[in-house]
Amino acid sequence: MNNKSYGPDRMTGREKKKFFGFYKTHRDRALAGFLKDITKIEINIKTISKYLMKRKKINCLIMGCSHWANPGDTMNFLKSFNNSLYINLVVLDALPNALIEIIKHNVNCLPILTPAQKTPFLGNYFDIIICDCLLTCCSFDQHEPVVREMARIIKKSGLIILGIVHSKKRITFKMSERPIKNYSRPLKEYEKLFNKHGFNFPKKSSVETSLPGKWAQMKIENCIVRVK
Ligand SMILES: C[S@@+](CC[C@H](N)C(=O)[O-])C[C@H]1O[C@@H](n2cnc3c(N)ncnc32)[C@H](O)[C@@H]1O
Repeated sequence: MNNKSYGPDRMTGREKKKFFGFYKTHRDRALAGFLKDITKIEINIKTISKYLMKRKKINCLIMGCSHWANPGDTMNFLKSFNNSLYINLVVLDALPNALIEIIKHNVNCLPILTPAQKTPFLGNYFDIIICDCLLTCCSFDQHEPVVREMARIIKKSGLIILGIVHSKKRITFKMSERPIKNYSRPLKEYEKLFNKHGFNFPKKSSVETSLPGKWAQMKIENCIVRVK
């Protein structure tokens, strides 16, 4: 894989504008909505609460930051579990669009332009990694290197808050309102992949939602994955 093939499939300038613009008007489809979904079940609230209550400081990474408001929403979400927590928040994306806006809006986080499968971080650095639909937005051959990198940079006690789109068989598709190529594979394949790299794919933590309209047969799995 050469450097050019990291990240989403190539989009035209107009497609990129539409894709990143989408999150400005659809906050419920950005991290704010995802994090709300995660806490729809009690066990997830308990897991995050237990994890954050006993910590004074955490290092948190958002993998795939498509909108500049995502870091602020994440801070508010984590602080709602422990208001005195110090959060060192880092966000990455393979495309600069969202990251540039983070700088323009002076958002309190460190934006890093890097592919998720080749990050500059030291091993065992992050307590929490939030990865909502990044795997859906990059080709199948990138999935394993991304999961391997997560396994390298997450602490042994860490939590991955994960959102993935899955379907009965492997498919790719593009939605008109978010013109990025989507890659969806069976949930079993994701489970195998995460297990292979030392994660415990959850049974009870999953909150399943569907994509809208004609894409409703595609399910979104929102869950917390733990290091084994
Ligand atoms: C669906 S969006 C993420 C949505 C965001 N997490 C949210 O919930 O609002 C996927 C993002 O991941 C980025 N991305 C996709 N593949 C990537 C990769 N291999 N490395 C880094 N960023 C990637 C895309 O550029 C895009 O901004």
